[in-house]
Amino acid sequence: MTKFYTTTAIDYVNGAPHIGHAYEKILTDVIYRHFTQRCENTYFLTGTDEHGIKIQKTSAEKGISPKEFCDTNAQKFKDAWKALNVDYSQFIRTTDEQHTKIVQKIFKKLTDKGDIYKHSYKGLYCSGCEAFLSEKDLTEDGLCPDHMKKPEVVEEENYFFKLTKYKDAIIKHIKTNPDFIVPSFRANEVLNQLENIEDISVSRAKSNVSWGIPVLGDDSQVIYVWIDALSNYITALGYDTEKSSEKFNNLWPADVQIIGKDILKFHSIYWPAILLALDLPLPKHILAHGWITIDQTKMSKSLGNVISPTAVLEAFNLNIPDPFRYYMASAAPCGKDGNYSDEDFKEKVNAHLANSMGNLLNRTLSMLVKYFDGNIRPEFLGKNELKNNALETVKSVKHHFDYFEVQEASMKIMELVDFVNKYVTDNAPWTLAKEGQTEKCGIVLTNVLQVMTVIASLIYPFCPNIAQAMADQLGYDIKTKLDDITCEYLTSGHLIDKENIKPVFLRMDSELADKKK
Ligand code: ME8
Ligand code: MG
Repeated sequence: MTKFYTTTAIDYVNGAPHIGHAYEKILTDVIYRHFTQRCENTYFLTGTDEHGIKIQKTSAEKGISPKEFCDTNAQKFKDAWKALNVDYSQFIRTTDEQHTKIVQKIFKKLTDKGDIYKHSYKGLYCSGCEAFLSEKDLTEDGLCPDHMKKPEVVEEENYFFKLTKYKDAIIKHIKTNPDFIVPSFRANEVLNQLENIEDISVSRAKSNVSWGIPVLGDDSQVIYVWIDALSNYITALGYDTEKSSEKFNNLWPADVQIIGKDILKFHSIYWPAILLALDLPLPKHILAHGWITIDQTKMSKSLGNVISPTAVLEAFNLNIPDPFRYYMASAAPCGKDGNYSDEDFKEKVNAHLANSMGNLLNRTLSMLVKYFDGNIRPEFLGKNELKNNALETVKSVKHHFDYFEVQEASMKIMELVDFVNKYVTDNAPWTLAKEGQTEKCGIVLTNVLQVMTVIASLIYPFCPNIAQAMADQLGYDIKTKLDDITCEYLTSGHLIDKENIKPVFLRMDSELADKKK
């Protein structure tokens, strides 16, 4: 594998980011960073979705222009991703000039192809979804089930896209590529939805929605916000209907497009149809992640339980986002729902990152200094009974990432950590030292440290700062590609002095952590 292109959903900017948005961006960043450890050419796109009636209404309520409103809120998303070390390659805003121009060209190309026609339409529009809903989608009380709001009756003349023309091709694609939709249990859901699809409205009357990209050559209409938004995945790369950029040619099709389960229909039906109409290849995988709840309750403004990711960092006085990243990325099995709770967060990262992993490195290095002045002697090398286990873990972590099983990958890493902790307990190097079994003691410590270099690499996508701190103390190059890992990185000689041994992560709420505040 040489290239890897991944994307997230682009968030609506009608508010500040919450931990559901953060979950998706962290999950994507962890996957992205893992693949930077395996591929040469990697790219990670994220951004904000800024047009549509919802933004128009919210900004009007606040008495500011939609653009001003978007500028302020888009910055909040950028700031949050920075605080979380989300290492995106590009942040696209759908108000960017390049994006709007290309979207207009895409619309024109679909029109020239005969896939777009004008049609008078009456329907129920949910501004939360930014979509028309049919009667059968609604609750008994006639509300949108996702937003618990009554959709508006809209009667307009719109442009329609011949979605039905692509129905059979999409069904065939999903059936012949069982790993197109991840997790695969969601594919059936999509196939069922495909049975009943109709052509979709792809523009809105400017008299009703003014905050959008105008249709070229028809001043009375703006392009439907989902067509605008979905196109970001290619406009960001400089896709053009005439001649695409080198960047586009090198990166498209995306390797995995990561989104929440609520917007799977848009990504597995509408988006493939647009791509087919443009004669472009479809993304290799669409990963639909689950929902993050707070204390097992759906986050909502009315319940007042919406949590901002940076508020979590502040509440726990964290100067690195690593524990939060680790917790969120491993919050749920692939595609399933996960939950955030303060208690569980603290307990889990203290147990895994401080007690098991951090402490293992800390006490092993301390023993190396105590018994050997921080030196690895030549006779300690080449007898590593942990090596197979470590290399097997690398293999299975890669395997899990190939299927975007991030929680599962994190569990494999912690299994290795536990295994090594048990090895230390079983071999009791402190007893070996006391009994004068010097060489055996040195071998045990060296074996553990060799595995710690592997663990540093494996934990890096989740905890980049902690991994770097581990690597620094081991003199290890964290940029080592996963394929080149040998578990024989350390050579004989001086490794570390007492004053350079530092805990890589302190228990949250511990006395030491309190002192650091
Ligand atoms: O849907 N848990 O934007 P959005 C997990 N602009 N994920 C969550 C979540 C939660 N509690 N709440 C939201 C949009 N998300 C469109 C996308 S893409 C071309 C356009 C996820 O701000 C949600 O599933 O409502 C989606 O993937 C992303 O956050 C943005 O949601
Ligand atoms: Mg949403």
